[in-house]
Amino acid sequence: MSKVALVTGGTRGIGEAISRGLKDAGYTVAATYAGNTEKAEAFEAETGIHVFKWDVSNAEACVAGIAQVEAELGPVEVLVNNAGITRDGMFHKMSFEQWREVISTNLDSMFTMTQPIINGMRSRGSGRIINISSINGQKGQMGQTNYSAAKAGVIGFTKALAQENAFKGITVNCVCPGYINTDMVAAMPQKVLDSIISGIPVGRLGHPEEIAQTVVYLASDAAAFMTGAVMTINGGQYIANG
Ligand SMILES: NC(=O)c1ccc[n+]([C@@H]2O[C@H](COP(=O)([O-])OP(=O)(O)OC[C@H]3O[C@@H](n4cnc5c(N)ncnc54)[C@H](OP(=O)(O)O)[C@@H]3O)[C@@H](O)[C@H]2O)c1
Repeated sequence: MSKVALVTGGTRGIGEAISRGLKDAGYTVAATYAGNTEKAEAFEAETGIHVFKWDVSNAEACVAGIAQVEAELGPVEVLVNNAGITRDGMFHKMSFEQWREVISTNLDSMFTMTQPIINGMRSRGSGRIINISSINGQKGQMGQTNYSAAKAGVIGFTKALAQENAFKGITVNCVCPGYINTDMVAAMPQKVLDSIISGIPVGRLGHPEEIAQTVVYLASDAAAFMTGAVMTINGGQYIANG
C-alpha cells in the first residue's frame, strides 16, 4: 500500500506542485485548503488527489480534519506544513489583527497540524515532516515583520523537533523558498516585484516545481540521514543580498 502524504495548502501554488510531485512519486496524497473551493474541486477532478477543507490555524478543526484523512486514507506518514499567508505592512502601521493572522496561519499551524500526527509517527517509528519557511524568515524583509517572525519561528521549530524525534525514525526538515511564481507573489505590486527580480542572480522567479522536487526528496527513504536541515532554494538571492 502506498504511503499517505498530507500537504496543507496543497491545492494551489507551491503546495499544488508538492501534491502533484508526491502523487507522481507514488504517495496517496491528501491536500488541504482554506476557502477556495472552486480551485480545490477543479484540482481534485483533474488529479484525483483527495482534497479536504479546514483552517490550519484552528486547533480543533485540525484534529477533526486529520482524523477524517486518516479514517479515509490511512495514517499520515509524510506531513508537509505548507499553508501560509501574507498580510504585509510596515510595522509602525501594522494592526494586531495583521500580526495575529500571519502568526496563527504560518506558525501556530506548526503546532496544530503536527501534534495530532506526530504521536502516530513516534509509535510506528517512522515519519517525515517537511515545513515550508521562506527566505524572508532567514534574512528578514521590510514590510513583513509578521511574516519574517513566523517563518523564522518555523526554522527554530524544525530544528528543535528534529532533535526530539531523530531516534524515533522521524526526520524534520524545512525548505526556504525564495520568490516563486504563485498567486502570493502575483499579488505584489509590479514595481516591487521588478526590484526583487533584479536582486536574484539567476534573473527570474522560481517555479513551484523547483520547490516540490526538494520536498519529494526529503520525503523519500534516500533522505533518512537528513534531519534538522534548512534547504535554501532562491536562485542565489540570499547569498547575493542576504
Ligand atoms: N510564493 C513564494 O514566493 C513563497 C516564498 C517563500 C515561501 N513561501 C511559502 O510557501 C507556502 C505556499 O505559498 P504559495 O505562494 O504557494 O501560496 P498561495 O499560492 O497563496 O497558496 C496558499 C495555499 O494555502 C492555503 N491556505 C492559506 N491559508 C490557509 C489556512 N488558514 N488553512 C488552510 N489552508 C490555508 C490556500 O488555500 P485556499 O486555496 O483555499 O486559499 C492555498 O491552498 C507558504 O507557506 C508561503 O509562505 C512562498
